[in-house]
Amino acid sequence: MESHEDRISNDSGNDTIHDVIAARLSRRDVLRGGLAVAGAGLLGMDALVRAVPAEAKANRPGRLLGFESIPISTADTLVVPPGYSARVLIAWGDPVSDGPAFAQDASNTAADQAQQWGMNNDGLVFFPMKGNGKYGGKGKRRGLLVQNHEYTDDVLLFPDGTEGWDAAKTAKSIAAHGVGIVELASVKVGRRREWRVVRPSYYGRRITGATPCGVTGPAAGHALLKTSADPTGTHVLGTLNNCAMGWTPWGTYLTCEENFNGYFRKVGPQTPMERRYGITAAGFGYLWHTTDTRFSVDDEPNEPNRFGWVVEIDPFDPTSTPQKRTALGRFKHEGAWVQQARDGRVVVYSGDDEQFEYIYRFVSAEPWRRMRRLGESPLDRGTLYVARFDSNGLGEWIPLTPEHPALAGWTAAQIAIDTRSAADLVGATPMDRPEWIDTFPRTLTGIATLTNNSARGMPGTNPRTGLPNAGIDATNPRGGPSATNPPGSGNQYGHLLTWSYRRDWTENTFRWDIYALAGNPAAAVSDGSNFTGDAFGSPDGIYVAPSGRLWIQTDVSGSAINPEARGATYAAFGNNQMLCSDPTTGEVRRFLTGPNVCEITGVFVTPDERTMFVGIQHPGEAPVGANDAANPKRYSAWPDFDAGQRPRSATVIITKDDGGPIGS
Ligand code: FEO
Ligand code: CA
Ligand code: CA
Repeated sequence: MESHEDRISNDSGNDTIHDVIAARLSRRDVLRGGLAVAGAGLLGMDALVRAVPAEAKANRPGRLLGFESIPISTADTLVVPPGYSARVLIAWGDPVSDGPAFAQDASNTAADQAQQWGMNNDGLVFFPMKGNGKYGGKGKRRGLLVQNHEYTDDVLLFPDGTEGWDAAKTAKSIAAHGVGIVELASVKVGRRREWRVVRPSYYGRRITGATPCGVTGPAAGHALLKTSADPTGTHVLGTLNNCAMGWTPWGTYLTCEENFNGYFRKVGPQTPMERRYGITAAGFGYLWHTTDTRFSVDDEPNEPNRFGWVVEIDPFDPTSTPQKRTALGRFKHEGAWVQQARDGRVVVYSGDDEQFEYIYRFVSAEPWRRMRRLGESPLDRGTLYVARFDSNGLGEWIPLTPEHPALAGWTAAQIAIDTRSAADLVGATPMDRPEWIDTFPRTLTGIATLTNNSARGMPGTNPRTGLPNAGIDATNPRGGPSATNPPGSGNQYGHLLTWSYRRDWTENTFRWDIYALAGNPAAAVSDGSNFTGDAFGSPDGIYVAPSGRLWIQTDVSGSAINPEARGATYAAFGNNQMLCSDPTTGEVRRFLTGPNVCEITGVFVTPDERTMFVGIQHPGEAPVGANDAANPKRYSAWPDFDAGQRPRSATVIITKDDGGPIGS
C-alpha cells in the first residue's frame, strides 16, 4: 500500500488517563443513584451494580434469573442447573447431510471432512424456517443451525498427528475449517419434542477453507487482492478462522475471519502492513505452506489480504456463493452484530480481537430493504467507523473515510484493506481484546466483552507496532504492575463495556459505562472485580436473548485451566463456563460448566427461548508444545467417553425440564 506503508502504525497513544477515573466514577455514582452497592473494588472505587437502567423499564428488575446457581467445576463433564437438561446435538466429524460417519480413529479423508461438521465449532445462529423453506416464522418445527469452525488441532485431526505432513493433510485441515449448516427438525420423542439433525437434507452444507467465495465492496478487484490464481482480485478460495458471527434481518449468516494471519508464512522482510496484521515467518504452527504456495507469502504476497473479512452466506440457498463484504473492513473480526436503525439502515458492530485493537461500527448508506430491492447488498455501501472512548463517559464513532483529514491520500479500498492502520491515524481507543458484542434493542445499548490483556500497563512493546504498551485508561481500567492489580500481569480477568444512544443506533456519539470488571467477588484479597454474583474470568461470547437475559461465556485460556497447569490466578473459575446476567440488576449467576480444558463459545435460542444451543470448543486441548499424537484423549474424553476416543468439539442443546424459557 503506497501512501502509508512507510510510517509507524498504531501511534495513537490515545487518552491513557489514570487520574480521571475517579471523576468518571463519580459521574456514574450520580447517574446510578440508588443502584450502588457495598464493597471496595479496584482503585478504591465503589463497587457498583452496572445495570442497564432503561432495560429495567422493559423487565421487572431481578425477575430474569430463576435457576439455581451451580458451583465451579473441574470435572470432565458438562453441568447445568437442577431442572435443566443438556445433550449433544452434533460433534466434529458428524455428517451434515448424508455424508460419511465420523471415524473414531480420525481416518476420515479430506473429502469426508468436507461433508462433516468441522473442528472447533464457535459462533452459531439458529434460523427459524417457515413451511415454504424460507427464513422466518417462529421456528417451532424447523430451522437451520449455522455454526463456525474456527481452527484445527492438527494433532487430533489425523491418526498419526502431524507426522509426514503432505498435501492430503493440508486438504483435510482446510476442510475442517469454515462453516457448517445443518437442518433441524423438532420431532416427537414420547410425549416431548426434540430437535434432531435432518439427514439427508437439501440444506446440509459445509463451507470450508477451499470453498469459492466472491469479494464485494470497495476492496473488490484492488491490486492488493490479486494473486497468480485470481488476477481479478474477486475470487477467493475459502474462509478461515471463523470465530464469531452475526445474522441479518434478511436471513443471512455472517461468518467472521479472526486470526487469519496464523496460516501464512512470510520468511522475507515484513512489509509494514504485514507487521501490523502479524504475518510472520513462524505463523501459528500450521504446515499448509509446505504443500500449498497459496500460504507462502514470499510466493503469493497478496493472499493474506483476501482474509480478515466478514463473509455473508445465504444458508437457505445451498447453491449460493459466500461473499466477502469488504466495506466492513479488514482486521481480526471477532463477529458482526447487526441492528436496525429507525429508518431501516443497518448498523453492524465488530471487534478486532487482539491486544490494543479497536471496536468498529458500520452503517449502511440506505435502508436495507431499499438496497436489496435495487439488487445491492446493504453491507456493500456505507460508512465504517471506529470507536473513541473519552474519559468523561462519552464517546464518538469516528468515520474511516478518505474525507477524514487524517486519512488524506487514502482511498476507500485502502481503508478497507488496511483498516487497522487507518484506525490508528484517527485517534481510536486501543482496547483490551474486543471479543463478542451484542445489543439490548429496547434500550439502544450495545455491550462488548474485553476478554483480557496481559500487556495492558505492562513494561514492553507491542510486537506489531514496536510502540510501548498502552497504560490503563477509563474504558480499560485494569493493568499492571500496581499494588491494586492482581499479581503477574495486566488486565487478567477482562470486563464488559456498554454504550448507549439517546434516540437511534446511527448517532455518532454515545455514553459508555463498564458493566462488570470480571474476577471473583468473593476473593479474600480484592482482585478488582466489581459485580454481584458468581466468579468468572475472561468473558468472551455474549448473547442478549429476546427476554433481555444476558448470557456470558468464558475463555480462560487452555494453558491456564488444564488440570496440570491450573494456577492460583484462575483457580476460582474452574473449567470454562456460561453465566447469565440480569441487566436490570447486574447480577451474574453461573448456569453451565464445561468439560476439561474446553472453551464455551457460541450461544443462541429458538424464538420462544425454550431451546438453547451452546458450543463446546476444544475439550481436552493440550497446551502448546504438549501435543502428543499417541495420546489423543489428553485432558478430556468428552463427549463420547469410549476407550481411545478423541475429545470432540460439539454443540449441545439445553432445555428446561418443565418446558420453560432457558434461564427462568
Ligand atoms: Fe476466536 Fe477472539 O475469539
Ligand atoms: Ca472468542
Ligand atoms: Ca477468547
